[in-house]
Amino acid sequence: MKFSYTALRGGLGLVTYLNKVYDWFEERLEIQGEYVPPHVNIFYCLGGITLTCFLVQVATGFAMTFYYRPTVTEAFSSVQYIMTEATFGWLMN
Ligand code: HEM
Repeated sequence: MKFSYTALRGGLGLVTYLNKVYDWFEERLEIQGEYVPPHVNIFYCLGGITLTCFLVQVATGFAMTFYYRPTVTEAFSSVQYIMTEATFGWLMN
């Protein structure tokens, strides 16, 4: 994909410059030439979505370990604290 947006065409020759940068990488890395095969559809996103959800669970779960107290007497009050006091605790929970 060459850069050819009209908004970028100015006196500075920004488009020409960007095209040179693009050509420099294209010549060495051959970025173009690979195409997504026709059978690939929206359902191929599911694996990535699942992975993203899993990583969010890991990250927020780890964040909550800083405030959650897993004992009979303190568990509920620590969750209350996470939800009401701790910064962005509600979001992590
Ligand atoms: C936490 C569970 C899983 C995660 C995070 C995950 C993630 C992914 C990702 C990111 C891809 C590549 C992109 C895509 O095609 O979506 C993929 C491909 C694939 N996954 Fe999973 N996956 C999981 C579970 C499974 C399970 C349970 C199976 C089979 C029983 C499976 C079978 C496959 C296959 C066969 C492909 C290749 C698809 C293709 O290229 O035609 N995955 N997975």
